[in-house]
Amino acid sequence: MTESVVGTSPGRVNLIGEHTDYNDGFVLPIALGHVARVTAQPRGDGVVRVSSAQLGESVELDALAPGPRAWWGYVAGVLWALRERGHALGGVDLDLDSAVPLGGGLSSSAAIECATVLALDFLAGLGLSADDLAVVAQAAENDFMGVPTGPMDQRASLWCTTDHALLLDCRTLTGRQVPFALPEDLVLVLVDTRSPHVLADGHYAQRRTACAEAAAALGVPALRDIAVADLPDALARLADDEHVRRVRHVVTENARVLDAVDALASGDWHAFGRLLTQSHDSMRDDYEITVPTVDLAVETALASGALGARMTGGGFGGTVIALLPADTLDAFSDAVVQAYAERGFDTPRISTTRAGAGGMELTPRR
Ligand code: GLA
Repeated sequence: MTESVVGTSPGRVNLIGEHTDYNDGFVLPIALGHVARVTAQPRGDGVVRVSSAQLGESVELDALAPGPRAWWGYVAGVLWALRERGHALGGVDLDLDSAVPLGGGLSSSAAIECATVLALDFLAGLGLSADDLAVVAQAAENDFMGVPTGPMDQRASLWCTTDHALLLDCRTLTGRQVPFALPEDLVLVLVDTRSPHVLADGHYAQRRTACAEAAAALGVPALRDIAVADLPDALARLADDEHVRRVRHVVTENARVLDAVDALASGDWHAFGRLLTQSHDSMRDDYEITVPTVDLAVETALASGALGARMTGGGFGGTVIALLPADTLDAFSDAVVQAYAERGFDTPRISTTRAGAGGMELTPRR
């Protein structure tokens, strides 16, 4: 019997470009140092067994059908997606061990899916392309788990490279590596706000629907097709106030991603930071996906001297990123812990990160 193989893939932090991916727009994620690891070992009896080191649980599955809404679905859904595409994969043990924090807006599910598809691709010698790996991992999320997310997370997890952000065009699904190496006097801080994602799924789907409705009302295939210069005219043609706010966020956010890439190219970290904060303001006021814990972390970061700060990920909690002068990190940490205590919020968890390696970079044969 074939030896076991291991697939490894990271969580991600989206630097800027939120809720643009399902509008055919632009995003700019980096990979985290935290990874999910999946060990795959074939078995002869046709059974699929999935285990989780973190949960201490193991399930055996005789058949795979979409819609489980259980932790193991992120792993088993990848096997299902491969079989759906005609790959004859039999029984297998899939052991998951993930260090990506759950529910933190850092794509813990995509990390699991991408680690699984890398392991199964390797195990079965499928030789899938970079595009196909991402398509299969995304199918596990969208079609098996039934979560209507866009194309960013799996491509970020697979395609990001060390010291680069990935500029992903979500219409063509092509990426460009953008150097992202912080100077020594700056740090990228992550604040895990430890806020529950109450009703997050429903809110996410509502945002998607509103964008699709607004695009239809404007007669364009996707909101990507509205240029910033045409925004006033487009907004004037929308009858629904909610659509006005959602469109304003998406159109300006797409422009901010491209401006952020320009700022990085010219080494203008202050301009980059301002764009982060503008993105947060837009998510708070127009897209209405922030909550008091994340707003407080952003306000505290800015008051502590951050060049910029914003919530990252789908919203309604999760993680805030802040670009801070390195010598203000301790004062900021104290300030945000104190501010949370004063408001009765759970103590936030603070860490720093760099742009790490994506799953494909970690897999030496590629
Ligand atoms: C979640 C989804 C992504 C993307 C972000 C918002 O992370 O999985 O596809 O839509 O929200 O930018």
